Amino acid sequence: FAESAAPRPLAGRRAVVTSGPTVEAIDPVRFIANRSSGKQGHAVAAALAALGAEVTLVSGPVTIPDPAGVRMVRVESARDMLAACQAALPADILVCAAAVADWRVEAADQKLKKQPGGAPPALVLSENPDILATLSQAGARRPRLVVGFAAETETVVEHAVAKRRRKGCDWILANDVSPATGTFGGDDNTLHLITDHGVEDWPRLTKQAAAERLAARIAEALAAASPKEPA
Ligand code: CTP
Ligand code: CA
Repeated sequence: FAESAAPRPLAGRRAVVTSGPTVEAIDPVRFIANRSSGKQGHAVAAALAALGAEVTLVSGPVTIPDPAGVRMVRVESARDMLAACQAALPADILVCAAAVADWRVEAADQKLKKQPGGAPPALVLSENPDILATLSQAGARRPRLVVGFAAETETVVEHAVAKRRRKGCDWILANDVSPATGTFGGDDNTLHLITDHGVEDWPRLTKQAAAERLAARIAEALAAASPKEPA
């Protein structure tokens, strides 16, 4: 079969997806990062592209391969990730799946050195920009459908409902990342989709299957909001 025979309900739509960790420099040789593998965000980017969307994937450093058919933008810090997302707008769809570092370090220009007999250095932290909140509240630049993830380790849905309201995104996928679930770095996810219409519990799915389900839901939502001209 020709590739064009596959249904492409997101043809003509632009999407930006964030994925992976961000890394925040302490000095020229050290950094703070987190355990995000990028698997879920990369799978979302691939699934949107498979439905025909033109996808920019803005990713922190990961070891997994680039998905097929997306434009890759590699970043390190949260501030770089925000700038790369802004540069990729306008878009119809934004999915923020990155595990963005909440804080950055006031980085030293030179490598920090041990002081013989001295105290360890104190890291001075400042809060990073919230990419999801910033772009959810971006006025005319706001993508039509903004989707976040909420990584929680307790009262998962309650925290995610509050997070959706606080940030101003349309949908949030609540994700239990407590260590027993093996979500970080693992291949499966148990998600709850929170929208204006309430909470939908999804079964435990592979990250790829969850991504395909999300991409299909996004295609439905956009088609309902602005049906395309009949061909
Ligand atoms: N996010 C973001 N920029 C940040 C922090 C988070 O874009 N600086 C996005 C994540 O990509 C995710 C959502 O916001 O889609 C929720 O991230 P999460 O870490 O769960 O929430 P926080 O608001 O950072 O709250 P906390 O970590 O305290 O639970
Ligand atoms: Ca956070």
